Amino acid sequence: MHAKKRYVLVCTNEREEGHPKGSCARCGSVEVRERIKELIADKGLKSKARVLKTSCLDICSGGPIVCVMPDNVWYEGVRVEDAEEIVDSHLDRGVPVEKLLIPDAPTGFSML
Ligand code: FES
Repeated sequence: MHAKKRYVLVCTNEREEGHPKGSCARCGSVEVRERIKELIADKGLKSKARVLKTSCLDICSGGPIVCVMPDNVWYEGVRVEDAEEIVDSHLDRGVPVEKLLIPDAPTGFSML
């Protein structure tokens, strides 16, 4: 049986220095992804969530961008220090982290 699981998509797209669109990798998304992955393992949440790296999610200016599916919850400006709150609140308890939500982001497919 397929267990209910959340997928954490972390944009790790990298553009050259000075590119007008910027890029999540240059804002620290690689480290954010590593920290979320580490916390999921440390807290025994592998059956609840899995982290995936993605290319550009088309919201570059707010990077690092993180999207949690199937909740369709979008976070911007995520820092390594935010990883634990995302893991504890959203991935473990199902409560999105309000302060990191992208205003007016598309929503839907919620299982919350
Ligand atoms: S580079 Fe991350 S959303 Fe575009």
